[in-house]
Amino acid sequence: MPSVLPSRGLSPTATRLFARGNEFLGTQVPILCGAMTWVSTPRLVAAVTQAGGFGALAGGNMPAEVLDRTVGETRGLVGARPFAVNVITLGPAYQSHLDVLEKNPPPIVVFAGGLPRDTEIARMKATGAKVMCFASTEALAKRLLAFGTDALILEGTEAGGHVGPVCLTVLLQQVLFHFGGEVPIFVAGGIGTGRLMAHLLMMGAAGVQMGTRFAVARECETHPGFKEALYRAAAREAQATGQFDPSLHVVAVRALRNEGTRDFERLQLDLIAMLQSGKISHEDAQAQVENFWIGGLRRAAVDGDVEHGSVMAGQSVGLVSREESVQEIMDGMVRDCEAEFTRCREALV
Ligand SMILES: Cc1cc2nc3c(=O)[nH]c(=O)nc-3n(C[C@H](O)[C@H](O)[C@H](O)COP(=O)(O)O)c2cc1C
Repeated sequence: MPSVLPSRGLSPTATRLFARGNEFLGTQVPILCGAMTWVSTPRLVAAVTQAGGFGALAGGNMPAEVLDRTVGETRGLVGARPFAVNVITLGPAYQSHLDVLEKNPPPIVVFAGGLPRDTEIARMKATGAKVMCFASTEALAKRLLAFGTDALILEGTEAGGHVGPVCLTVLLQQVLFHFGGEVPIFVAGGIGTGRLMAHLLMMGAAGVQMGTRFAVARECETHPGFKEALYRAAAREAQATGQFDPSLHVVAVRALRNEGTRDFERLQLDLIAMLQSGKISHEDAQAQVENFWIGGLRRAAVDGDVEHGSVMAGQSVGLVSREESVQEIMDGMVRDCEAEFTRCREALV
């Protein structure tokens, strides 16, 4: 595999701290582009792998035959380099996605969206694929380790898309510091600089996963209006959906505040009032909540309707302000990571 690293190569510190993640992922730099439905297409996955990092294809809500075709397309673009396919345990086609991957296994399968069964993890491992699982709480991390996951993606609530309730700062102390020696732990949520990556590696992370930074990359095929909304947004505008009453369950998704998120809040308040006065059944109210965002991400990322669609983004959106190629993002991350190692070495003597 030709090197994509600077001609002078990596410093001994970076070589050492990148080694565990690189070995697990088969990369030159342990940076993952997280799976993003409608966003991490085969082209983006290929661009990240060609730049020395690791790309995850989003299975999302694809029908099984589309996933099969898209995995084939990705394989054709990345050649011998490894990549992952992401499956969402709560997705409507989840079981048929597992069937597709069993027949045509990718190098790595990433489980997201809830707790997979231990038998499902074992089934994917039996294909020869490595398994990575998202953990957004300490309890989930412990369960997934007991279920035999090969690695964890430890994701803080700062992240874009579906999020858990705990910030990365706390998860690092609860999970990375305790279990980082057991399996490689890749950390995600709010990461946008090589300087932070350097510290996460020094804390014991095997690597980092970024979503929002890659969602605005030149090779990313999202609608220009979607990218523009991300360049303009401040960190505080990427907010997780709130739940106003325990009777009406809401899955938290971090996205930019817009007319759609405000409509969703109004809908929740109306439904809660109707529930309290007995004008709607719990089942109907819950169904309205669950149906509200169907197609929302596609509307924003593909059609460019950033006012009514779901403009999923992490708080790291405050760190992106212009379009860069994937190679520029990767080079900048490595350069700034190395500079931070140097600064720390000097600060510690
Ligand atoms: C637009 C968007 C779509 C996403 N879709 C998915 C998905 O389909 N599956 C998944 O596992 N994670 C998904 N994520 C989460 C990312 O893979 C990644 O973990 C997250 O973006 C990291 O936080 P960051 O955005 O602050 O870098 C999505 C994130 C964004 C921004």
